[in-house]
Amino acid sequence: MRSLNSSLSSKDSSRIERGGGEDQMCYRASPFLISFTLLLSLPFLFLLLPCILPPLFPLPDTISPADELDDLSVLRRASASSLSHLSSSSSSPSLKIAFLFLTNSDLHFSPLWQRFFRDDRSRSLFNIYVHADPSANISLPPAGSVFHGRFIPSKRTSRASPKLISATRRLLAAAILDDPANFYFAVLSQYCIPLHSLEYVYRSLVTSTTFDSSIATAESAQHGVRLRYNSYIEVIDRSPRLWKRYIARGRYVMLPEVPFDKFRAGSQFFTLIRRHALMVICDRSLWKKFKLPCYREDTCFPEEHYFPTLLSMVDRRGLTGYTLTAVNWTGTVNGHPHTYGPSEVSPELIQRLRASNHSESYLFARKFSPDCLAKFMEITDNAIFEE
Ligand SMILES: *[C@@H]1O[C@H](CO)[C@@H](O)[C@H](O)[C@H]1NC(C)=O
Ligand SMILES: *[C@@H]1O[C@H](CO)[C@@H](O)[C@H](O)[C@H]1NC(C)=O
Ligand SMILES: *[C@@H]1O[C@H](CO)[C@@H](O)[C@H](O)[C@H]1NC(C)=O
Repeated sequence: MRSLNSSLSSKDSSRIERGGGEDQMCYRASPFLISFTLLLSLPFLFLLLPCILPPLFPLPDTISPADELDDLSVLRRASASSLSHLSSSSSSPSLKIAFLFLTNSDLHFSPLWQRFFRDDRSRSLFNIYVHADPSANISLPPAGSVFHGRFIPSKRTSRASPKLISATRRLLAAAILDDPANFYFAVLSQYCIPLHSLEYVYRSLVTSTTFDSSIATAESAQHGVRLRYNSYIEVIDRSPRLWKRYIARGRYVMLPEVPFDKFRAGSQFFTLIRRHALMVICDRSLWKKFKLPCYREDTCFPEEHYFPTLLSMVDRRGLTGYTLTAVNWTGTVNGHPHTYGPSEVSPELIQRLRASNHSESYLFARKFSPDCLAKFMEITDNAIFEE
Protein backbone atom coordinates (compact mmCIF):
# COMPACT_ATOMS: atom_id res chain seq x y z
CA MET A 1 0.00 0.00 0.00
CA ARG A 2 1.23 3.43 -0.81
CA SER A 3 1.70 5.83 1.98
CA LEU A 4 -0.62 8.75 1.97
CA ASN A 5 2.05 11.11 3.10
CA SER A 6 4.38 10.26 0.33
CA SER A 7 1.72 11.23 -2.13
CA LEU A 8 1.54 14.61 -0.50
CA SER A 9 5.15 15.40 -0.42
CA SER A 10 6.64 18.06 -2.60
CA LYS A 11 9.99 17.86 -4.22
CA ASP A 12 10.13 21.59 -4.16
CA SER A 13 9.47 22.39 -0.60
CA SER A 14 13.04 22.23 0.60
CA ARG A 15 14.22 24.93 -1.69
CA ILE A 16 11.35 27.16 -2.39
CA GLU A 17 11.05 30.53 -0.89
CA ARG A 18 8.18 30.98 1.39
CA GLY A 19 5.49 33.57 0.92
CA GLY A 20 5.18 36.55 3.21
CA GLY A 21 2.81 36.44 6.14
CA GLU A 22 4.07 39.39 8.06
CA ASP A 23 1.21 41.71 7.37
CA GLN A 24 0.44 43.85 10.34
CA MET A 25 -3.20 44.72 9.81
CA CYS A 26 -5.26 44.27 12.91
CA TYR A 27 -8.97 44.17 13.18
CA ARG A 28 -10.38 46.36 15.87
CA ALA A 29 -13.14 44.37 17.39
CA SER A 30 -14.70 43.30 20.60
CA PRO A 31 -12.57 40.97 22.66
CA PHE A 32 -15.50 38.62 23.02
CA LEU A 33 -14.20 35.89 20.86
CA ILE A 34 -17.39 34.33 19.62
CA SER A 35 -19.17 37.47 18.60
CA PHE A 36 -15.95 38.60 17.02
CA THR A 37 -15.87 35.46 14.96
CA LEU A 38 -19.44 35.96 13.90
CA LEU A 39 -18.74 39.50 12.82
CA LEU A 40 -15.89 38.29 10.70
CA SER A 41 -18.13 35.75 9.06
CA LEU A 42 -20.65 38.29 7.81
CA PRO A 43 -18.66 39.69 4.88
CA PHE A 44 -18.23 36.15 3.63
CA LEU A 45 -21.91 35.36 3.48
CA PHE A 46 -21.87 36.01 -0.20
CA LEU A 47 -19.39 33.19 -0.54
CA LEU A 48 -21.85 30.80 1.01
CA LEU A 49 -24.73 31.59 -1.28
CA PRO A 50 -23.48 29.44 -4.15
CA CYS A 51 -23.45 26.52 -1.72
CA ILE A 52 -27.07 26.88 -0.86
CA LEU A 53 -28.42 27.56 -4.32
CA PRO A 54 -28.09 24.64 -6.69
CA PRO A 55 -25.60 25.17 -9.54
CA LEU A 56 -27.13 26.12 -12.88
CA PHE A 57 -25.12 23.63 -14.89
CA PRO A 58 -23.74 20.24 -14.00
CA LEU A 59 -19.97 20.55 -13.72
CA PRO A 60 -17.68 18.46 -15.90
CA ASP A 61 -16.75 15.38 -13.94
CA THR A 62 -13.60 13.39 -13.63
CA ILE A 63 -14.35 12.17 -10.16
CA SER A 64 -17.43 9.99 -10.62
CA PRO A 65 -20.64 12.02 -10.93
CA ALA A 66 -22.24 10.02 -8.14
CA ASP A 67 -19.38 10.80 -5.75
CA GLU A 68 -19.43 14.42 -6.73
CA LEU A 69 -23.17 14.76 -6.12
CA ASP A 70 -22.83 12.99 -2.84
CA ASP A 71 -20.13 15.44 -1.77
CA LEU A 72 -22.05 18.43 -3.01
CA SER A 73 -25.02 17.62 -0.84
CA VAL A 74 -22.83 17.32 2.26
CA LEU A 75 -20.98 20.53 1.45
CA ARG A 76 -24.26 22.37 0.93
CA ARG A 77 -25.70 21.07 4.15
CA ALA A 78 -22.58 22.13 6.03
CA SER A 79 -22.62 25.66 4.71
CA ALA A 80 -26.35 26.01 5.26
CA SER A 81 -25.98 24.84 8.83
CA SER A 82 -23.18 27.30 9.43
CA LEU A 83 -25.54 30.07 8.36
CA SER A 84 -28.13 29.03 10.87
CA HIS A 85 -25.42 28.89 13.53
CA LEU A 86 -24.59 32.51 12.83
CA SER A 87 -27.63 33.57 14.76
CA SER A 88 -27.51 30.93 17.48
CA SER A 89 -23.92 30.18 18.36
CA SER A 90 -23.36 33.11 20.68
CA SER A 91 -24.21 30.66 23.43
CA SER A 92 -21.28 28.37 22.48
CA PRO A 93 -19.23 27.61 25.56
CA SER A 94 -15.77 27.79 24.00
CA LEU A 95 -13.81 27.58 20.80
CA LYS A 96 -12.78 24.07 19.88
CA ILE A 97 -10.08 22.60 17.71
CA ALA A 98 -11.21 20.00 15.17
CA PHE A 99 -8.47 17.45 14.53
CA LEU A 100 -8.94 16.03 11.04
CA PHE A 101 -7.12 12.78 10.31
CA LEU A 102 -6.67 11.79 6.70
CA THR A 103 -5.47 8.20 6.44
CA ASN A 104 -5.17 5.27 4.08
CA SER A 105 -3.81 2.84 6.67
CA ASP A 106 -4.25 2.10 10.35
CA LEU A 107 -3.76 5.01 12.73
CA HIS A 108 -0.37 3.73 13.85
CA PHE A 109 0.10 6.29 16.57
CA SER A 110 -3.36 6.12 18.09
CA PRO A 111 -1.99 5.22 21.58
CA LEU A 112 0.11 8.38 21.44
CA TRP A 113 -2.84 10.48 20.34
CA GLN A 114 -4.93 8.77 23.00
CA ARG A 115 -2.58 10.23 25.62
CA PHE A 116 -2.55 13.57 23.89
CA PHE A 117 -6.33 13.85 24.11
CA ARG A 118 -6.74 11.99 27.40
CA ASP A 119 -6.59 14.68 30.01
CA ASP A 120 -8.74 17.20 28.30
CA ARG A 121 -11.75 15.16 27.32
CA SER A 122 -13.90 16.54 30.05
CA ARG A 123 -13.12 20.10 29.10
CA SER A 124 -14.16 19.44 25.52
CA LEU A 125 -11.61 21.63 23.83
CA PHE A 126 -11.56 19.49 20.73
CA ASN A 127 -13.30 17.12 18.33
CA ILE A 128 -11.79 14.35 16.21
CA TYR A 129 -12.77 13.32 12.68
CA VAL A 130 -11.20 10.57 10.60
CA HIS A 131 -11.38 10.10 6.83
CA ALA A 132 -10.19 6.54 6.24
CA ASP A 133 -9.80 5.17 2.71
CA PRO A 134 -12.43 2.40 2.58
CA SER A 135 -10.27 0.33 0.20
CA ALA A 136 -7.46 0.09 2.75
CA ASN A 137 -8.88 -2.47 5.20
CA ILE A 138 -8.36 -0.25 8.20
CA SER A 139 -9.12 -1.80 11.58
CA LEU A 140 -11.73 0.12 13.50
CA PRO A 141 -10.63 1.54 16.83
CA PRO A 142 -11.95 -0.27 19.91
CA ALA A 143 -14.58 1.24 22.19
CA GLY A 144 -12.78 3.51 24.62
CA SER A 145 -10.44 4.85 21.96
CA VAL A 146 -10.74 8.57 21.27
CA PHE A 147 -11.08 7.59 17.61
CA HIS A 148 -14.03 5.30 18.24
CA GLY A 149 -17.11 6.49 16.34
CA ARG A 150 -15.18 9.36 14.78
CA PHE A 151 -14.90 7.94 11.26
CA ILE A 152 -16.81 9.99 8.70
CA PRO A 153 -18.29 8.63 5.44
CA SER A 154 -15.21 8.29 3.26
CA LYS A 155 -14.18 7.50 -0.27
CA ARG A 156 -11.11 6.13 -1.91
CA THR A 157 -8.08 8.45 -2.11
CA SER A 158 -5.12 8.15 -4.44
CA ARG A 159 -1.85 9.75 -5.29
CA ALA A 160 -1.61 12.78 -7.58
CA SER A 161 -5.35 13.04 -7.89
CA PRO A 162 -7.90 15.57 -6.71
CA LYS A 163 -9.41 12.88 -4.48
CA LEU A 164 -7.25 14.07 -1.60
CA ILE A 165 -8.83 17.50 -1.96
CA SER A 166 -12.29 15.92 -1.86
CA ALA A 167 -11.34 13.95 1.24
CA THR A 168 -10.13 17.09 3.01
CA ARG A 169 -13.27 18.97 2.04
CA ARG A 170 -15.38 16.10 3.39
CA LEU A 171 -13.53 16.33 6.70
CA LEU A 172 -14.03 20.09 6.89
CA ALA A 173 -17.73 19.77 6.05
CA ALA A 174 -18.25 17.00 8.60
CA ALA A 175 -16.60 19.06 11.31
CA ILE A 176 -18.55 22.20 10.43
CA LEU A 177 -21.84 20.27 10.48
CA ASP A 178 -21.03 18.44 13.66
CA ASP A 179 -20.24 21.25 16.06
CA PRO A 180 -20.65 25.01 15.66
CA ALA A 181 -17.94 25.49 18.28
CA ASN A 182 -15.28 23.99 15.98
CA PHE A 183 -13.11 27.00 15.25
CA TYR A 184 -9.73 25.67 14.13
CA PHE A 185 -9.46 22.77 11.69
CA ALA A 186 -6.10 20.96 11.79
CA VAL A 187 -5.36 18.44 9.03
CA LEU A 188 -3.11 15.54 10.05
CA SER A 189 -2.20 12.09 8.74
CA GLN A 190 -1.42 8.73 10.31
CA TYR A 191 2.29 9.58 10.13
CA CYS A 192 1.95 12.77 12.18
CA ILE A 193 2.69 13.11 15.89
CA PRO A 194 1.97 15.89 18.37
CA LEU A 195 5.01 17.82 19.63
CA HIS A 196 3.28 19.25 22.72
CA SER A 197 0.40 18.63 25.08
CA LEU A 198 -3.12 19.45 23.95
CA GLU A 199 -3.21 22.24 26.47
CA TYR A 200 -0.15 23.86 24.92
CA VAL A 201 -1.62 23.48 21.44
CA TYR A 202 -4.92 24.99 22.55
CA ARG A 203 -3.30 27.89 24.33
CA SER A 204 -1.03 28.62 21.35
CA LEU A 205 -3.87 28.65 18.84
CA VAL A 206 -6.63 30.23 20.86
CA THR A 207 -5.36 32.54 23.57
CA SER A 208 -1.67 33.27 23.10
CA THR A 209 -0.83 36.77 21.84
CA THR A 210 2.77 35.86 21.13
CA PHE A 211 2.64 32.41 19.48
CA ASP A 212 2.21 33.54 15.88
CA SER A 213 4.93 36.02 14.93
CA SER A 214 2.73 37.53 12.21
CA ILE A 215 0.15 38.72 14.76
CA ALA A 216 2.28 39.29 17.81
CA THR A 217 1.64 42.98 17.45
CA ALA A 218 1.92 45.75 19.94
CA GLU A 219 -1.83 46.02 19.91
CA SER A 220 -2.39 42.43 21.00
CA ALA A 221 0.21 42.80 23.70
CA GLN A 222 -1.38 45.99 24.92
CA HIS A 223 -4.85 44.52 25.21
CA GLY A 224 -3.61 41.19 26.44
CA VAL A 225 -6.20 39.38 24.33
CA ARG A 226 -6.09 37.76 20.96
CA LEU A 227 -7.50 40.26 18.49
CA ARG A 228 -7.07 38.29 15.37
CA TYR A 229 -6.91 34.71 14.07
CA ASN A 230 -5.04 33.51 11.03
CA SER A 231 -5.00 30.23 9.17
CA TYR A 232 -1.66 28.44 9.38
CA ILE A 233 -1.04 27.40 5.82
CA GLU A 234 2.09 27.47 3.72
CA VAL A 235 1.85 29.79 0.70
CA ILE A 236 4.67 29.47 -1.81
CA ASP A 237 4.60 31.79 -4.78
CA ARG A 238 8.06 31.25 -6.22
CA SER A 239 9.41 27.90 -7.24
CA PRO A 240 11.16 26.68 -10.36
CA ARG A 241 8.60 23.90 -10.70
CA LEU A 242 5.48 25.98 -10.29
CA TRP A 243 4.99 26.57 -14.02
CA LYS A 244 5.17 22.86 -14.83
CA ARG A 245 2.58 22.17 -12.22
CA TYR A 246 0.40 25.00 -13.44
CA ILE A 247 0.29 23.60 -16.98
CA ALA A 248 -0.06 19.97 -15.87
CA ARG A 249 -3.64 19.91 -17.19
CA GLY A 250 -2.91 21.92 -20.32
CA ARG A 251 -1.51 25.35 -20.86
CA TYR A 252 -4.74 27.35 -20.82
CA VAL A 253 -6.96 25.05 -18.83
CA MET A 254 -6.76 26.94 -15.53
CA LEU A 255 -7.87 30.21 -17.14
CA PRO A 256 -9.71 32.39 -16.50
CA GLU A 257 -10.28 31.39 -12.87
CA VAL A 258 -6.62 30.85 -12.01
CA PRO A 259 -4.03 32.94 -13.87
CA PHE A 260 -0.47 31.73 -13.33
CA ASP A 261 0.42 34.65 -11.08
CA LYS A 262 -2.29 33.52 -8.66
CA PHE A 263 -1.15 29.87 -8.59
CA ARG A 264 0.40 28.83 -5.26
CA ALA A 265 1.94 25.78 -3.59
CA GLY A 266 2.11 24.57 -0.01
CA SER A 267 1.86 21.56 2.25
CA GLN A 268 -1.64 20.18 2.63
CA PHE A 269 -1.09 19.80 6.38
CA PHE A 270 -2.59 23.06 7.52
CA THR A 271 -4.72 24.53 10.27
CA LEU A 272 -7.59 26.69 9.06
CA ILE A 273 -9.88 29.01 10.94
CA ARG A 274 -13.60 28.47 10.50
CA ARG A 275 -14.25 31.16 7.95
CA HIS A 276 -11.51 29.80 5.70
CA ALA A 277 -12.83 26.27 6.15
CA LEU A 278 -16.19 27.59 4.95
CA MET A 279 -14.61 29.22 1.93
CA VAL A 280 -13.01 25.90 1.04
CA ILE A 281 -16.19 23.86 1.23
CA CYS A 282 -18.17 26.51 -0.63
CA ASP A 283 -15.80 26.91 -3.50
CA ARG A 284 -17.09 25.70 -6.84
CA SER A 285 -15.19 27.79 -9.34
CA LEU A 286 -11.62 26.76 -8.56
CA TRP A 287 -12.64 23.21 -7.76
CA LYS A 288 -13.98 22.69 -11.26
CA LYS A 289 -10.45 23.39 -12.53
CA PHE A 290 -8.41 21.60 -9.90
CA LYS A 291 -10.48 18.43 -10.21
CA LEU A 292 -9.51 17.99 -13.85
CA PRO A 293 -7.01 15.17 -14.50
CA CYS A 294 -3.35 15.93 -15.23
CA TYR A 295 -1.39 14.65 -18.19
CA ARG A 296 1.50 13.58 -16.03
CA GLU A 297 1.41 12.18 -12.55
CA ASP A 298 4.79 13.58 -11.56
CA THR A 299 3.81 17.21 -12.02
CA CYS A 300 0.33 17.02 -10.63
CA PHE A 301 -0.12 17.43 -6.87
CA PRO A 302 -3.48 19.16 -6.76
CA GLU A 303 -3.76 18.85 -2.98
CA GLU A 304 -0.61 20.96 -2.62
CA HIS A 305 -2.01 23.72 -4.84
CA TYR A 306 -5.73 23.96 -4.41
CA PHE A 307 -5.87 25.18 -0.81
CA PRO A 308 -3.07 27.80 -0.86
CA THR A 309 -4.23 29.09 -4.26
CA LEU A 310 -7.87 29.40 -3.28
CA LEU A 311 -7.26 30.96 0.14
CA SER A 312 -4.60 33.40 -0.99
CA MET A 313 -6.92 34.57 -3.77
CA VAL A 314 -9.73 35.38 -1.36
CA ASP A 315 -7.92 36.38 1.85
CA ARG A 316 -4.13 36.44 1.73
CA ARG A 317 -3.95 38.68 4.77
CA GLY A 318 -5.71 36.08 6.85
CA LEU A 319 -2.99 33.48 6.19
CA THR A 320 0.28 33.12 8.07
CA GLY A 321 2.06 31.68 5.04
CA TYR A 322 3.62 28.92 7.14
CA THR A 323 2.54 25.57 8.53
CA LEU A 324 2.56 24.17 12.08
CA THR A 325 3.67 20.69 11.00
CA ALA A 326 7.43 20.16 10.96
CA VAL A 327 8.83 18.01 8.17
CA ASN A 328 12.40 17.12 7.22
CA TRP A 329 13.19 17.58 3.53
CA THR A 330 16.92 16.89 3.88
CA GLY A 331 17.93 13.97 1.71
CA THR A 332 14.50 13.75 0.11
CA VAL A 333 14.04 10.73 -2.15
CA ASN A 334 11.40 10.58 -4.87
CA GLY A 335 9.56 13.49 -3.35
CA HIS A 336 9.23 11.72 -0.01
CA PRO A 337 10.39 13.58 3.09
CA HIS A 338 12.77 11.92 5.53
CA THR A 339 10.92 9.19 7.43
CA TYR A 340 12.23 8.87 10.96
CA GLY A 341 12.85 5.37 12.32
CA PRO A 342 12.89 4.25 15.98
CA SER A 343 16.65 4.69 16.35
CA GLU A 344 16.27 8.41 15.66
CA VAL A 345 13.44 9.05 18.11
CA SER A 346 14.66 10.80 21.27
CA PRO A 347 13.80 13.77 23.47
CA GLU A 348 16.46 15.74 21.57
CA LEU A 349 14.74 15.04 18.28
CA ILE A 350 11.47 16.40 19.68
CA GLN A 351 13.33 19.56 20.76
CA ARG A 352 14.86 19.98 17.31
CA LEU A 353 11.54 19.43 15.56
CA ARG A 354 9.84 22.08 17.64
CA ALA A 355 12.20 24.86 16.52
CA SER A 356 10.43 27.15 14.06
CA ASN A 357 11.37 30.47 12.52
CA HIS A 358 7.75 31.55 12.29
CA SER A 359 5.92 30.64 15.45
CA GLU A 360 7.01 29.93 19.00
CA SER A 361 7.06 26.25 18.13
CA TYR A 362 5.89 23.69 15.63
CA LEU A 363 2.90 21.84 17.06
CA PHE A 364 3.00 18.64 14.99
CA ALA A 365 5.61 16.72 13.01
CA ARG A 366 5.82 14.12 10.26
CA LYS A 367 6.82 11.66 9.12
CA PHE A 368 7.54 8.63 11.28
CA SER A 369 7.57 4.91 10.55
CA PRO A 370 4.91 2.97 12.49
CA ASP A 371 7.53 1.11 14.54
CA CYS A 372 8.49 4.39 16.27
CA LEU A 373 5.43 4.03 18.48
CA ALA A 374 7.09 2.15 21.36
CA LYS A 375 9.87 4.73 21.52
CA PHE A 376 7.37 7.58 21.61
CA MET A 377 5.42 5.95 24.41
CA GLU A 378 8.63 5.81 26.47
CA ILE A 379 9.37 9.49 26.13
CA THR A 380 5.92 11.09 25.94
CA ASP A 381 5.43 12.29 29.46
CA ASN A 382 8.88 13.80 29.86
CA ALA A 383 9.65 14.95 26.35
CA ILE A 384 6.40 15.63 24.51
CA PHE A 385 3.58 16.38 26.91
CA GLU A 386 5.60 18.13 29.59
CA GLU A 387 4.40 21.39 28.03
C1 LIG B 1 -7.93 -7.04 6.62
O1 LIG B 1 -7.11 -6.99 7.78
C2 LIG B 1 -7.34 -8.08 8.67
C3 LIG B 1 -6.53 -7.84 9.94
O2 LIG B 1 -5.44 -7.03 9.72
C4 LIG B 1 -6.98 -9.38 7.97
O3 LIG B 1 -7.20 -10.48 8.83
C5 LIG B 1 -7.85 -9.52 6.72
O4 LIG B 1 -7.48 -10.68 6.01
C6 LIG B 1 -7.70 -8.31 5.83
N1 LIG B 1 -8.67 -8.38 4.75
C7 LIG B 1 -8.36 -8.08 3.49
C8 LIG B 1 -9.46 -8.19 2.51
O5 LIG B 1 -7.24 -7.71 3.16
C1 LIG C 1 16.77 15.21 8.59
O1 LIG C 1 17.02 14.02 7.86
C2 LIG C 1 18.39 13.72 7.67
C3 LIG C 1 18.48 12.45 6.86
O2 LIG C 1 17.85 12.59 5.63
C4 LIG C 1 19.07 13.56 9.02
O3 LIG C 1 20.46 13.31 8.82
C5 LIG C 1 18.87 14.82 9.85
O4 LIG C 1 19.41 14.62 11.14
C6 LIG C 1 17.41 15.15 9.97
N1 LIG C 1 17.24 16.44 10.65
C7 LIG C 1 16.55 16.56 11.79
C8 LIG C 1 16.39 17.93 12.33
O5 LIG C 1 16.05 15.62 12.36
C1 LIG D 1 15.56 29.43 10.24
O1 LIG D 1 16.15 30.33 9.33
C2 LIG D 1 17.54 30.16 9.16
C3 LIG D 1 18.07 31.27 8.29
O2 LIG D 1 17.28 31.41 7.15
C4 LIG D 1 17.83 28.77 8.59
O3 LIG D 1 19.21 28.56 8.43
C5 LIG D 1 17.24 27.72 9.51
O4 LIG D 1 17.39 26.43 8.96
C6 LIG D 1 15.78 28.00 9.78
N1 LIG D 1 15.32 27.08 10.79
C7 LIG D 1 14.18 26.40 10.68
C8 LIG D 1 13.82 25.48 11.80
O5 LIG D 1 13.45 26.48 9.68
